[in-house]
Amino acid sequence: MIPVAVAHLKRCAILLLLIVWWPRLEAATPPAAAIATAHPLATEAGHEILAAGGNAFDAAVAITAALAVVEPTGSGLGGGGFWLLHRARDRHEVMIDGRERAPLAARRDIYLDDKGEVIPRLSVDGPLAAAIPGTPAAMAHLARRYGRLPLSKTLAPAIRLAREGFAVGESYRRMAQFRRDALRGSPEGARLFLHENDVPPAGHILKQPELATTLEAIARRGAAGFYDGPVAARLIDGVRAAGGIWTKEDLARYRIVERKPIRGRYRGLRITAASPPSSGGVALVTMLNILAGYDLAKFDAATRNHLIIEAMRRAYRDRAIYLGDPDHVTVPARKLTHPLYADGLRAAIRPDQATPSKLLPGGATLETGDDTTHFSVLDREGNRVAATMSINFPFGSGFVAPGTGVLLNDEMDDFSAKPGAPNVYGLVGGNANAIAPGKRPLSSMTPTFLENDHGVAILGTPGGSRIITMVLLATLDAASGAEPASWVGLKRFHHQFLPDVVQHEPGTFDAAQAEALARLGHTLKEVNDPYGNMQAVLWDRKSGKVLAASDPRGEGKAEVR
Ligand code: DON
Repeated sequence: MIPVAVAHLKRCAILLLLIVWWPRLEAATPPAAAIATAHPLATEAGHEILAAGGNAFDAAVAITAALAVVEPTGSGLGGGGFWLLHRARDRHEVMIDGRERAPLAARRDIYLDDKGEVIPRLSVDGPLAAAIPGTPAAMAHLARRYGRLPLSKTLAPAIRLAREGFAVGESYRRMAQFRRDALRGSPEGARLFLHENDVPPAGHILKQPELATTLEAIARRGAAGFYDGPVAARLIDGVRAAGGIWTKEDLARYRIVERKPIRGRYRGLRITAASPPSSGGVALVTMLNILAGYDLAKFDAATRNHLIIEAMRRAYRDRAIYLGDPDHVTVPARKLTHPLYADGLRAAIRPDQATPSKLLPGGATLETGDDTTHFSVLDREGNRVAATMSINFPFGSGFVAPGTGVLLNDEMDDFSAKPGAPNVYGLVGGNANAIAPGKRPLSSMTPTFLENDHGVAILGTPGGSRIITMVLLATLDAASGAEPASWVGLKRFHHQFLPDVVQHEPGTFDAAQAEALARLGHTLKEVNDPYGNMQAVLWDRKSGKVLAASDPRGEGKAEVR
């Protein structure tokens, strides 16, 4: 009797141990932290905060703020973004939607003349192009809800960089050349970001004391430091004096939203990505669902890429028709990410022929762009952040409200100004993405986690509508076992339904493949502009290695420490 009881007790004890230890086995932590961002000083700021006892979320605050200072072409306090989080302790995953919102005085036809025609540049240059920023609110929320350190600590590196200055790089100078006229349209924008009204010389030290003061206000008062008080007053006065329509109420009513990320699966990989108002996660999962029906490795390169292009075409058609701000329109995200829906789309793909986009039912979209910014963070506890942030066009709207140092976005251009009328990138869209007061413009930003039993990847990139297809190509590469250096360096191609062309980087397709794709009915178009700036981290649980990579096309830095 007694031995039986002992044996039983032993079994119970083992079971109990397993129950207690199981979550710990699952939550084994990485041997090092890793950060990949578009600027070495932002990567350094993130590591500085980790070394000071902060977690990945604190580092994300520091990086967001540092990028606002050292990469003003791509993101900033005057813009917005999506911060995808994974908290290791309880595996909590959420997307912080800090996307800009249309001002309350914005109307559907705000960019149209009396004849109903789009007024060129109005949604791109100057304060009327600017939506209400979300980045300051997102930083404050990240710090309060997920961080460990006060904003006074996490914003310190950015404040220092803004006060002491930094040397502008080649990409800054290229973008300043590209947006020189928009900056010249704003006396404060020109004073801060140009030098003697022109592109600053190489090595120019950019100091931003007003931005430092604005950051200090946020460090002291959290979001209220930006959306209320003297900074808010200066923003409103500056915008209105230059013909903009912001009101106090716009700033006072700005709220971030915590949203459930989009989820999907591809050949054993679990995908977690940005949800609407980004189109990224939905389109990514649709494409992967379509492609999951093929054994891509079995095809020759031309056929494989043909199938990928056809998947892109279909997902972007749906983007144009269905996607918009879920707080304003019904977005059928569940349907679009359902494997059965993808089965239907795949059934209509011919392996031997391209489907002309005009033969597919539906709307039209086209967008491109190569600014914006992405960073990826993994800390030693296993917390993760994938964040893509934007002010849209390089240097946003070019407009700076005097006394704030804050370059305002031109994210209003991500709305469709009129159904069927192309935006600055040639983008057209429909009702789902029409302008409405307080609405968030549709985005392509796709911060993403990939996960399987082997490991965890954190990735994303800027690049307008090409963001989603870049993340797709990286995901396919990751699924085939490649490492981050390969994902970020891959030659890229893209199809977005309309125009019905395959954009690609030079050297993506060799002559034989280009000919094969043309024979299938694809029109190839080589693009020479900088194409993306991907930042990726991989924690390989099996080998215990942490790897990070920064896109060779950019000036960023990935560092494992
Ligand atoms: O949210 C979006 O999709 C765009 N505002 C991103 C723009 C971008 O990546 C680069 N544009 N030049």
